[in-house]
Amino acid sequence: MSEPSDSYTRHAAHFERVYDLDDPSPYFATLRRADYRMPVALAGALKAIHRPLSAARGAGETLRVLDFACGYGAIGALLRHDVSISALYAHYAARQWQPADGRRYWPKDIAFFAARRAQGVAFDIGGIDIAGNALAYASALGFVDRAFPENLVDDAPSDGLARFLDGVHLVVESGALGVLLPAAFARVLDCAGGERPPWFLYSPRPDVNWTALETLWAARGYRTASFLGAPVRYRKPLEAQEGADMLRRSRAFGKSDDAIMQGGYFLVDMTLARPEADIDNPAIAQLRGRMVEESSE
Ligand SMILES: C[S@@+](CC[C@H](N)C(=O)[O-])C[C@H]1O[C@@H](n2cnc3c(N)ncnc32)[C@H](O)[C@@H]1O
Repeated sequence: MSEPSDSYTRHAAHFERVYDLDDPSPYFATLRRADYRMPVALAGALKAIHRPLSAARGAGETLRVLDFACGYGAIGALLRHDVSISALYAHYAARQWQPADGRRYWPKDIAFFAARRAQGVAFDIGGIDIAGNALAYASALGFVDRAFPENLVDDAPSDGLARFLDGVHLVVESGALGVLLPAAFARVLDCAGGERPPWFLYSPRPDVNWTALETLWAARGYRTASFLGAPVRYRKPLEAQEGADMLRRSRAFGKSDDAIMQGGYFLVDMTLARPEADIDNPAIAQLRGRMVEESSE
């Protein structure tokens, strides 16, 4: 458990205040300062994974994806629009939203993204988050197709979510608290149907103890692999002390500083968990090759 004086805990409490506002701009302003990169990495991974996962599952054109702890829907925003992450940050930085402004910028945002809608591979995205306002925004903007304001960690899923999970192809996660994942992913697996269980693509921060999740994978017959074969830049610390705390926590798990932070960015090794039966279908090297192809298209 973290001591209350830990700057990481204080930072997290501050950061959480921007999770569920009527407007996403304070959230994105915070992340812009840290140059948070994960939603763009996940959006690229989703494009790369579409064809091989469809083939492995015998799915049609549309893959069903659960975005766990989707917040304001950053992954869907980048996946579905010709907008870079810096353009997204710049868009939200162009206003000085105050709580009294409520949802007044939503129509402007809808027009901004509608003008940049991209053609591309098809996903049916279900977003789940405990932050109802953030989820409502993600849904209004079309960043998710279905919104589930639920807490899978503490509660069983609603009937609607259970139906969505029965047949879900892929679960993605970026930026969620690591400690939530084992319980939430176990519930997903309980609902997902045993015959064609989903793949999971997640962003395991190095300062978290992942033993419970590894135990879950072993118990459910899943194997994990580094999706890219190398870590990606996650974000910069928001303050120097957060960086120092992150290094200290990660060292406790035997990780070298170089593996945790480079060039001022925290690193995360995006991880793919697949049922054992899918492990060569296709091999991870082929998936990495698809990622390279996607990024050069
Ligand atoms: C750092 S934000 C990440 C949001 C989004 N994935 C992104 O990358 O922009 C963390 C999110 O976790 C959500 N969250 C916290 N506890 C949760 C829970 N038990 N179930 C689902 N979401 C949760 C918060 O509401 C918040 O939206």
